[in-house]
Amino acid sequence: MTPSYRLTVVGLLLAALALTGCTRGSDISGGAALAEEAGCVACHGLNGRGTAPTFPNINGQHASYMFDQLKRYRSGERVNVIMNEQVKLLSNAELDLLARYYAAQ
Ligand code: HEC
Repeated sequence: MTPSYRLTVVGLLLAALALTGCTRGSDISGGAALAEEAGCVACHGLNGRGTAPTFPNINGQHASYMFDQLKRYRSGERVNVIMNEQVKLLSNAELDLLARYYAAQ
């Protein structure tokens, strides 16, 4: 499978989960898999700790703050060439799950 196809599959699964309400609240199942699929782990690790000094630690950060920042990167309102690319294909449901996953690390 190509990475973009895998992302689509993950996106569809998340959309299905969102429809049934399973991703609401504090449920972060699937968050680790999505962080790997979307490539976040290369720089923020699975535990949210930056893998190099230029990559911020995001473990324990507020989910609402991260969700907002991720949407701002996606829209281009917040400019960072790395992060703008990372999130441009992700849905709101995916950004929400990633934000809640890293908040819980
Ligand atoms: C190639 C490295 C890299 C990858 C991959 C990456 N990030 Fe980042 N991330 C960064 C850098 C660098 C910054 C700081 C950007 C800036 O200055 O705005 C950042 C910033 C962030 C922030 C904002 C932190 C803050 O304090 O405002 C969040 C949240 C975040 N990343 C989450 C993610 C998620 C979720 C993914 C996967 C979809 C991801 N990142 C993928 C390097 C990366």
